[in-house]
Amino acid sequence: MARSAILNVMVQAAIKAGRSLARDFGEVENLQVSRKGPSDFVSAADHNAEKIVRTELQKARPGYGLLMEESGTIEGDDPQHRWIVDPLDGTTNFLHGIPIFNVSIALEREGTIVAGVIYNPAMDELYTAERGQGAFLNDRRLRVAARKSLPDCVIGTGIPFLGVGDHARSLKEIRHVMGEVAGLRRCGAAALDLAWTAAGRFDGYWEHGLSPWDMAAGLLMVREAGGYVSDINGGNNMFESRSIVAGNEQIHGQLRKLLANARG
Ligand code: IPD
Ligand code: CA
Ligand code: CA
Ligand code: CA
Repeated sequence: MARSAILNVMVQAAIKAGRSLARDFGEVENLQVSRKGPSDFVSAADHNAEKIVRTELQKARPGYGLLMEESGTIEGDDPQHRWIVDPLDGTTNFLHGIPIFNVSIALEREGTIVAGVIYNPAMDELYTAERGQGAFLNDRRLRVAARKSLPDCVIGTGIPFLGVGDHARSLKEIRHVMGEVAGLRRCGAAALDLAWTAAGRFDGYWEHGLSPWDMAAGLLMVREAGGYVSDINGGNNMFESRSIVAGNEQIHGQLRKLLANARG
């Protein structure tokens, strides 16, 4: 698989930041952990990784703007291109020694995501995708799972942080979905939930209350693996609605219907 020059830049940035995360993993007492909300943690590990990604991306493409979880928007001279970066997706897992976390980097061109990289250093799994070129886990081409019936399916989801999301809605949806599927998982890193859907580990996935940096790279990965991605209403407004539903064509449709029924 030949990677484009720009994808190589993203891969190098993700691996470099991932190495920093691997060094910080398990060092929680030295990581100056603080809270952005009642259960929304941030640490020096998030900031260290973000600085590395920012330096690498700006070195390669000085004019591109950035949207990063910890620094917010950094304007560039080039209005057509924007990096969307989550330097540490899965901070709660990371701070608890759970090896399910990642660096996520996406490139948006004129409002469309054209490239994405998701790297989990703890499992040494590198997910890459370019628009029209497929999605890969390391060197292996990815394909979403083929299961077509919910009782055969493992579905991933997320639960919003305390104080920010609608837990009553989550409970309703989870109750509805768990009665119809083989298994439900909440792994705690949205970008990996999408990468795992692209890889066919999850048959489907949905979540509310996400930010663009949680979804940007992963949604391209699912689409490039032949899957369907939409917001909760079936539209393409994932960033505005902060919601996402993913799976193969059939499971995406069935899951969306179930979730609509759950909301009544
Ligand atoms: C969080 C994770 C989690 C999701 C949250 C996100 P962070 O990202 O992706 O799985 O449920 O909504 O904010 O804060 O660890 O980068
Ligand atoms: Ca966070
Ligand atoms: Ca995140
Ligand atoms: Ca983060």
